[in-house]
Amino acid sequence: MATPHIAASPGDFSDIVLMPGDPLRARMIADNWLEQAKLVTDIRNMYGYTGYYRGRRISVMAHGMGIPSLSIYATELIREYGARTLIRVGSCGAIAPHLQLQDIVIAQGAGTDSKVNRMRFLDHDFAAIADYALLAQACDAARRLHYPVHVGNVFSADLFYSAQPEMLEKMEKMRILAVEMEAAGLYGLAAEYGASALTVLTVADQIRGGASLTAAERQHSFGRMMEIALTAALE
Ligand code: ADE
Repeated sequence: MATPHIAASPGDFSDIVLMPGDPLRARMIADNWLEQAKLVTDIRNMYGYTGYYRGRRISVMAHGMGIPSLSIYATELIREYGARTLIRVGSCGAIAPHLQLQDIVIAQGAGTDSKVNRMRFLDHDFAAIADYALLAQACDAARRLHYPVHVGNVFSADLFYSAQPEMLEKMEKMRILAVEMEAAGLYGLAAEYGASALTVLTVADQIRGGASLTAAERQHSFGRMMEIALTAALE
């Protein structure tokens, strides 16, 4: 049965779902990385596809921008469509000065200024962390592929346009690698429903330096991130 936001039939999704923010990225992943990919939902143009990668059935569905949007799609995928492994593949803004454009960040944990995990956890602080097996598999895949990655804490911000210099300084001091907008929500949600989650990111901009990726550079680094995410998902 369809949910309010996903128009697929039972069994249309794999238990493994890769989740980019952008629906056109979902289509691009289906077209370029999956075999026999079929569109399974398109409500609000939030495309979801299911196909095969190295013989394993895998789905890809966009989650939109920010924790509220991601939470709607991820919850319905888990509760109604049997998703057990959710891997966000997205972009981030670098905070740590040693991060370069196109570098790959694997979010071991995620802090946030969102209240969602407190809402889930009786107003206490929840340590929003990646599933360890997925994290280890992603790190192993990156090592085997000779792709350098940065593994550590990210910050999931509710506001994209909020750069307070004091907060940026504090994040750098506290070893936050990068800012994005969803990982903490995904990790809290996965914990609540007993699912496994990971976030793999490409550095698209340097928040303090002001540099950002060109379209061609985005494409190139995106490929490495996908290889890492797909290899981790299959193991
Ligand atoms: N994703 C990519 N760049 C970002 C930024 N600067 N802030 C939040 N999320 C991002």
